[in-house]
Amino acid sequence: MAALLAARGLQTSDQWIVERTGIRARHFADDGVNSSDLALHASLAALQAAGRVAQDIDLIIVATSTPDMIFPSTACILQHKLGIAGCAAFDVQAVCSGFVYALAVADAMIKTGSARCALVVGSEVFSRILDFNDRTTCVLFGDGAGAVVLEASNEPGILATDLHADGRHVGILCTPGTVAGGQVLGDPLLKMDGQAVFKLAVQVLDSAARAVLEKAGRSTDDVDWLIPHQANIRIMQSTAKKLKLPLDKLIATLDEHGNTSAASVPLALDVAVRSGRVKRGDTVMLEGVGGGFTWGAVLLDF
Ligand code: ACO
Repeated sequence: MAALLAARGLQTSDQWIVERTGIRARHFADDGVNSSDLALHASLAALQAAGRVAQDIDLIIVATSTPDMIFPSTACILQHKLGIAGCAAFDVQAVCSGFVYALAVADAMIKTGSARCALVVGSEVFSRILDFNDRTTCVLFGDGAGAVVLEASNEPGILATDLHADGRHVGILCTPGTVAGGQVLGDPLLKMDGQAVFKLAVQVLDSAARAVLEKAGRSTDDVDWLIPHQANIRIMQSTAKKLKLPLDKLIATLDEHGNTSAASVPLALDVAVRSGRVKRGDTVMLEGVGGGFTWGAVLLDF
């Protein structure tokens, strides 16, 4: 990455990026590959892992801030690519908290009987909104997708969810441009006040973790695995330390894919499950934090 950016005249180094963030690699989708394409790939893998087929799905929620189009939703495009029709499908836009938000919505819809078998996806092509002349942001993000199948069951499941937002902080992390009159208005590239985001992230990840544990009547001792938003290893380790969780309970995969926004938590969950670390019966805490400012947590028995 550093060599690529040096060729564009940007001063950076792989050492700086790894030391400050823990990120060693990120992946960028080819031109013409959109969030729905990455979402399809992740969805098929999730369906296979769950022993389900697309026809079993009666709800699709895609968390994304980089949709294929302004409308229709990426979820509708994904539904078509999955070869199904008729079930509810919509996007959730909560930036890097998107997957946790989407999972909480799917859980609520299943618990109220509105859905039985939900496909919940986080999918992003953040490379499309990065300013490759801004070294403070472009080295942090990557593209990716992750998905889960969530089904009604008498066994828990999702034990508790906890979601928050504070719109006073819109300006510290945003892609402010929009489209009007057939033209892009404002700046369509990502802007971030890294230090402000860092400080707020450390604070709210701790409060959301404690709130979701309290709602579920559990304590930090019950948590087998912490899977926070994969943005910066220092934020993640600080969250674990504040909760007095040993660092070997922290799932960190950002070294392999960077910050993939709404895709980061399901990507990390996928790696943790397929590598055999997260096992049936383990108690897992998922946490998201990102633009909005948004944050939240989901506590589940896997
Ligand atoms: N390479 C080399 N130097 C750099 C780079 C780079 N890529 N980027 C910044 N620097 C420089 C800065 O210009 C600054 O130089 P100066 O001291 O001469 O002014 C110096 O490094 C230190 O910069 P800081 O911003 O103080 O570095 P910091 O330690 O705060 O790390 C970072 C920056 C990694 C962005 C950190 O603030 C961070 O991770 N913030 C949180 C990001 C996050 O969690 N996002 C999650 C939400 S994402 C979403 O919702 C889409």
